[in-house]
Amino acid sequence: MDDVASAKVRLPVARFRDASEASKRVAHEIARLIRQRASENRRCVLGLATGSTPIRVYRELVRMHREENLSFFNVVTFNLDEYFPIKPESPQSYHRFMNENLFNHVDIIRSNVHIPSGTVPLENAPGYCRDYEDLILKFGGIDLQLLGIGRTGHIGFNEPGSTRDTLTRMVRLDSLTRKDAAKDFGELDRVPLLAITMGVDTIMQSKRIRLLAFGEHKARIVQQALQNRMSSALPASYLRQHPDMQYLVDGAAASCLPPSIFGTSLQ
Ligand code: PGA
Repeated sequence: MDDVASAKVRLPVARFRDASEASKRVAHEIARLIRQRASENRRCVLGLATGSTPIRVYRELVRMHREENLSFFNVVTFNLDEYFPIKPESPQSYHRFMNENLFNHVDIIRSNVHIPSGTVPLENAPGYCRDYEDLILKFGGIDLQLLGIGRTGHIGFNEPGSTRDTLTRMVRLDSLTRKDAAKDFGELDRVPLLAITMGVDTIMQSKRIRLLAFGEHKARIVQQALQNRMSSALPASYLRQHPDMQYLVDGAAASCLPPSIFGTSLQ
């Protein structure tokens, strides 16, 4: 990790040598939380993300499960979002992503896994979204929320225009988000127009937030999310109000940030 970022003060932006190092740092924090809760006979509620960014985190958690007896027996998960409509077995579905990258490889209790449905009848979606919120609250809220950031500045699928008070709901995907997803779906026309996502407020209610951003293509949006005026035009900018939020970035994603940001307050 960067010299400045390795100083004792807990910093909101930490720059790592590479994505692997940053991912391991988050995975180890998650593992500590799971074990601490288990030792107190309590559940650990994780908010999980999909996409290319968190894959290494899941890989490290699976390794710790296999090699270091990390059990997910006390873990409850809530995923951020899912395309709509999409079948859970579809190659691009986030249900399938989570199974393949994490859940199939650890001892999590399946009924403790929650991912927004891509198949709920459209007319039932508002009630379904309210129930998803209620369920998070019933489990005592999210202890740690893992996040990526899209090039639109979205967190989850909270695209530009998503206000600070938004909750879980059906949204329309931004055209840039759909363009970025086109490689997964084969062509742009196959990318769903809609999604169900936790809201900005749902995310902000998490006790800890850890946002990962890797690669040069994220550099500009990371800089804007940290330095532009806070507004619904850039939903990730709201994260600066969170009392326990940290950005973990690699050198490429940090390349538009001024050196002074490492170790300064974000307010
Ligand atoms: P990515 O997506 O991890 O595939 O870059 C991040 C996001 O859109 O939140």
